[in-house]
Amino acid sequence: MHALGIDIGGTGIKAAPVDLDTGTFVADRVKIATPHPAVPDAVAKVVHRLVETFSWSGPTGITFPGVVTNGVTRTAANLNPAWIGLDARAMLAKAAGQEVRLLNDADAAGVAEMTFGAGKGEPGTVHMVTFGTGIGSALFVDGVLVPNTEFGHLEIRGKDAEERASERAKTAQDMSWKHWARNVNEYLEHIEALLSPQLIIVGGGISRQSDKFLPLLTGLHARVVPAAMHNDAGIAGAAMAAHPGSAAPVRAGAGANANPDLGAAIGATGRTGTLGDQGPPGFPDPGLPE
Ligand code: BGC
Repeated sequence: MHALGIDIGGTGIKAAPVDLDTGTFVADRVKIATPHPAVPDAVAKVVHRLVETFSWSGPTGITFPGVVTNGVTRTAANLNPAWIGLDARAMLAKAAGQEVRLLNDADAAGVAEMTFGAGKGEPGTVHMVTFGTGIGSALFVDGVLVPNTEFGHLEIRGKDAEERASERAKTAQDMSWKHWARNVNEYLEHIEALLSPQLIIVGGGISRQSDKFLPLLTGLHARVVPAAMHNDAGIAGAAMAAHPGSAAPVRAGAGANANPDLGAAIGATGRTGTLGDQGPPGFPDPGLPE
């Protein structure tokens, strides 16, 4: 089964159709620069263009770089504030010409990594962090996502962590790898102090250059590994969230068709995961009522 994943970021909006059994793209990814200002209408136009580019009709999942509860975008640190409080799912569904699922970008990337990538089969506490325009976070306990954690906005030495440790901060302040790695180290120490994850997965585009900064990190107890899917994880996770009526993932790692019986059982409780409701079981559309 295939679904279209669209990953809305502060810099680019990327899309690809995804094979949900493998997490791989079935066509080349297309990227369009995020419009400025990144107001809802302008972003919706890009979403429309991407859907048209792939002549897509079918399950579609979209990520958003902010808190999403019940299809409503609650924050927009790196997009225009007009998104705050908007029923973005309804608006983007109109642009896409079909129902869509909407979820936080780091949550999507995390679920993809937990299912197909660096966190596959990992029990216990796993923290996925994405370094990009902002810092995204996704927290997993035994493969189950705790959505909308927003640990990129931890305050460290009087500043939002994003201001020192995002990829954007590195570029904007022209930091050396050594300087930036020190900031990342400090940030991950805070994460460790609060969450004690056994595994930290480092994602975002910059994870392709992990050899330049992961070896510089010191004093952390968690294993720190690069994301296997790098910046593509968000698209894959978006597509996974779109899978209608999925039996799984009941939890990340279960695979798209892992346990039909469990899916049926969950369906009987009303959590069928049909388009427009709360999403596939175990992959919560953040903040929706049980
Ligand atoms: C947002 C998060 C998002 C992250 C990465 C942060 O500024 O608050 O929701 O996941 O950037 O895009």
